[in-house]
Amino acid sequence: MAKMKTMYECLACGYETPKWLGKCPNCGAWNQMEEQIAPTVLSQNSISVTTSGNHQNGKAYKLNQIPTQIEKRLSTKFDEFDRVLGGGVVPGSLVLIGGDPGIGKSTLLLQVSVQLANHEQTVLYVSGEESLSQIKLRAERLELHGDDFYLLSETDLAVIAHEISVIKPDVVIIDSIQTMSVPDNQGTVGSVSQLRGATSVLMRAAKDNQIAIFIVGHVTKEGNIAGPRMLEHMVDSVLYFEGERHNRFRILRAVKNRFGSTNEIGVFEMQDRGLKEVVNPSELFLEERLSGSTGSTVVAALEGTRTILAEIQSLMTPTVYGNAKRTASGIEYQRVSLLLAVMEKHCGLLVQNQDAFFKTTGGVRLDEPAIDLAIAVSIASSYWNRETRVDDVFMGEIGLTGEIRRVSQIEDRLKEANKLGFKRAFIPYNNLKGLNDLALQLEIIPVKTIQNAIRLIFPK
Ligand code: TYD
Ligand code: MG
Repeated sequence: MAKMKTMYECLACGYETPKWLGKCPNCGAWNQMEEQIAPTVLSQNSISVTTSGNHQNGKAYKLNQIPTQIEKRLSTKFDEFDRVLGGGVVPGSLVLIGGDPGIGKSTLLLQVSVQLANHEQTVLYVSGEESLSQIKLRAERLELHGDDFYLLSETDLAVIAHEISVIKPDVVIIDSIQTMSVPDNQGTVGSVSQLRGATSVLMRAAKDNQIAIFIVGHVTKEGNIAGPRMLEHMVDSVLYFEGERHNRFRILRAVKNRFGSTNEIGVFEMQDRGLKEVVNPSELFLEERLSGSTGSTVVAALEGTRTILAEIQSLMTPTVYGNAKRTASGIEYQRVSLLLAVMEKHCGLLVQNQDAFFKTTGGVRLDEPAIDLAIAVSIASSYWNRETRVDDVFMGEIGLTGEIRRVSQIEDRLKEANKLGFKRAFIPYNNLKGLNDLALQLEIIPVKTIQNAIRLIFPK
């Protein structure tokens, strides 16, 4: 028989080591090392939820013996929410919704639950954070009424599993996973071993009974769902609900999705009666844009399957003393510092003694190469204090030699810009082919290099 190896695991972060340690080398927590014990697993296995007898009993099947299931999705009647999921809620899926505390996760899921309940789904909303009357109060404030909508205020997964067996819901919400506990589990509530235990119980409940389960997860300062990435690996889909607290926009973003594409976003606005969908986000993101300003450009960026127009702002000012200050919000810092270097090398800007600040408006996060050209033009505009035209839109990736490289889905980007009334679009020269048939009221200006683009935009 193989010798059993004892392993120790940090209850705070999940770090594993063959030796007991007082302090975890990974997260620095003291006295959190626990011997990994088999009963943890046993107790998780002892909680079972059976509503349909769908369990496959560990038997293997040939591919052609498995009946094809027609993909049936439940619509939440929130188009933005359905799109992020890849076209609706998939029965039997386990979805993690992460986000900062107070961003609106509970509000969103309460609204979604009631919508589903009003469309013939049985929904169970489990809260480990709020009492039944608190949730009721919120539902009343949001003017939500649902028939097949059950509320449970509970943190013990054994009790929750029992309720699921009794109610046989189609959709379950667990708010939040950090408050849930599996009986007999050694870890404290919210620890890695509890999170893992609770998530695996829910995973099995979802798969065996074809229940769609949404779990809410709080996010740490660093932007990770508290507890290590392990939670993200266990679930089918991970959605992040983001936004600045002072800003009314909220963006739901898929970062992992077994049933759809990632990077898909849904845009919502927090109002006093809950979250409202934003049907045309580009309009909102550009709403407060000033005409005749310096350092501002508009990019047609791809977010999942959708094009969104957003404003990029740069502010370059001479450094007063010490090292130059650089910050970027909504754009990767890496990307802007690379573009600053390209502009210095190829367009004659002297940026080393300049403070540089970058921002996207509306709290939208842009992360794709096609935003390079818009950033570079906004840098030049702010540096030379020259206005950009309010009806120009930019798309193009910039290489290290200053060349402008082709971007994907140029037609969709141009159509969106055209719809919003832009007059000129600067695009990569290599994207030009086949664009003649588009019939847009948009002057298309192809550019090969950043020098070339700058000369056209800011003529001497
Ligand atoms: P909540 O859903 O409790 O956030 P989370 O579950 O992510 O912690 O949202 C709380 C915030 O939303 C709170 O600061 C108040 C605000 N809010 C509104 O502005 N309008 C509303 O209708 C509701 C219900 C909440
Ligand atoms: Mg909440």
